[in-house]
Amino acid sequence: MREHMLTAIAAATGLEALEACRVSALGKQGSVTALLKTLGGMSPEQRLVEGPRIQGLREAVSTAIAERKAALEAAALEARLASERLDMTLPVEAVPAGTVHPVSQVMDELAEIFADLGFSVATGPEIETDWHNFTALNIPASHPARAMHDTFYLQQGIDAKARGEADEKTTFSLLRTHTSPVQIRTMLKDKPPIRIIAPGRTYRSDSDATHTPMFHQVEGLVIDKGITLGHLKWTLETFLKAYFERDDIVLRLRPSYFPFTEPSAEVDVGYTWTRGKRVIGGSGDAPGGGWMEVLGSGMVHPKVIAACGLDPAEWQGFAFGCGIDRLAMLKYGMDDLRAFFDGDIRWLKHYGFAA
Ligand code: PHE
Repeated sequence: MREHMLTAIAAATGLEALEACRVSALGKQGSVTALLKTLGGMSPEQRLVEGPRIQGLREAVSTAIAERKAALEAAALEARLASERLDMTLPVEAVPAGTVHPVSQVMDELAEIFADLGFSVATGPEIETDWHNFTALNIPASHPARAMHDTFYLQQGIDAKARGEADEKTTFSLLRTHTSPVQIRTMLKDKPPIRIIAPGRTYRSDSDATHTPMFHQVEGLVIDKGITLGHLKWTLETFLKAYFERDDIVLRLRPSYFPFTEPSAEVDVGYTWTRGKRVIGGSGDAPGGGWMEVLGSGMVHPKVIAACGLDPAEWQGFAFGCGIDRLAMLKYGMDDLRAFFDGDIRWLKHYGFAA
């Protein structure tokens, strides 16, 4: 029996076979275990002889199993090391590396610039409710501004309306037409003082060289006590100087109208034509110069502040909304917005945005 067991252990070619040997000898139903159990029924004289023999057998078997196990494990390690050996002399295959899309780069830059001014980044959903995208921003259902937004409405919202189940505050029924609903979500969620920017995708049914159905905006919102138009102008000037990396940025605030700001201003930056190229900087009124609209802004309308549950007598603020794609085009001298979203690697390479 002893020889038989030791031969089987030596012949085990894997850990599983070895474990089977162990169970058949030392397991609960194992043959050595059965022998050990017979000791109880023996006379003391017999036990004196058989005891050491059976214990010796048990030890011999356990030792053989432990040794075989160590040998098998060492062999497995050897085999793995051999199979995983790397040939360091093989030539390296070049893997083309991706780069960050210009729009994403500009978004990162904006987050950095505004972080220095104490703004954090806020986000909101691209699929919005009527209330967040329009009503809370002082654009009630019949307001002509809704028509100006060329909104993409969602079938689920249209269906809910048909069933009489639509709720303007909770039924997600459209693709947001601007990042301004993030103003609402932020004021509902956070206590003032608030200083955020909200970059992201926005949607309007519109397409030509300077409009794509999906585009990007960055919203800015400050809510605090005693905020004035002066704070707005300084913030925009500081932001645009940092973004265009020039100190001679000149802004022109043109009176305008947005339902959610009062007063409202559209903001132009001056540029000059230099060697056939539009270069941002200097007054647009200088010879050969011009003005380029870059954003909409204004003092947050008291009705908007109130819609978010804040007291407009206590809290004031400013907001602005800026087209990110436009900013990228101006900085990198690109002229067709649609190319931004074609995913054409040659175009990205041309502007140095792909390896
Ligand atoms: N939401 C406006 C737009 O898309 C821009 C804007 C934002 C204007 C904030 C004023 C204040 O045109």
